[in-house]
Amino acid sequence: MRASIQSVVLPVAGLGTRFLPATKAIPKEMLPVLDKPLIQLAVEEAHKAGIKQVVLVTSASKRAIEDHFDVNFELEATLEQRGKLAMLDAVKTTLPNGMTLAVVRQPKALGLGHAVLCAQPIVGNQPFAVMLPDDFIDDTQGGCLADMVALYNQEQAYSLAVEEVPRDKTDKYGVVSLNEEGRIVAMVEKPKPEVAPSTLAVVGRYVLPGAIFEALTEVKPGAGGEIQLTDGIASLLASEHFRPHRFKGVRYDCGSKLGYLQANVALGLRDTEVGQSFAAWLKTQ
Ligand code: G1P
Repeated sequence: MRASIQSVVLPVAGLGTRFLPATKAIPKEMLPVLDKPLIQLAVEEAHKAGIKQVVLVTSASKRAIEDHFDVNFELEATLEQRGKLAMLDAVKTTLPNGMTLAVVRQPKALGLGHAVLCAQPIVGNQPFAVMLPDDFIDDTQGGCLADMVALYNQEQAYSLAVEEVPRDKTDKYGVVSLNEEGRIVAMVEKPKPEVAPSTLAVVGRYVLPGAIFEALTEVKPGAGGEIQLTDGIASLLASEHFRPHRFKGVRYDCGSKLGYLQANVALGLRDTEVGQSFAAWLKTQ
């Protein structure tokens, strides 16, 4: 039996230029879907997967994320005094019970692969998970990462979450090709539609071997001149098996305005407090 998945790496050092000016002074991962920031939705999904340690890979100007998971003494004391106990609980459990948070800085924006490599001193040479909080996966049954960790626990299989995308969108994703047994045999970052090996795209959930760190130290700048996680994984495909995980639920690309709006509508419609009136109002639009 291999080691269990204890850590999730959340690379959050990016600038979030697509949401400027909203993200001038707050990190894009702090944008809320309904009443929870994207980063918290990711941490909650990791918690459901049984993960104990959250490793944030941050940059300057991302302090709000650390503060969100820390104690806010004044706020907690005020809520307690006013008897707002449900709210107090929500504030106290932004980092779910039993989870710890570690923070490491990515000194330069050299790419997703480089960001993941920055977490090596904390994760060690262990299998671990990576989540990209921009990709919000709404799965009311369980959770995408929980299913991937279960697959790892049962079959020792590393995996990448995937979904079909239109061919004209392949240049926004890492794209995989599979062999007859369904194993990933090739992976390329942001291929143009005419050269993409398939239309099966990787979305932001990965269960990876510790060996990825060594591989990432060897990777040369790839698409966009960046050290790509995709290239690190591609270099391991001959020695390690990676499975595509076709997740349940719906993935919203909350790094785009359309996906972000759709996620808010989906959660808004299900909200016990405002869902019905929101649905009624939406019909009038
Ligand atoms: C990153 C990865 C890419 C993956 C995508 C999923 O790209 O590099 O392989 O398909 O996330 O959202 P980014 O969206 O950061 O450009």
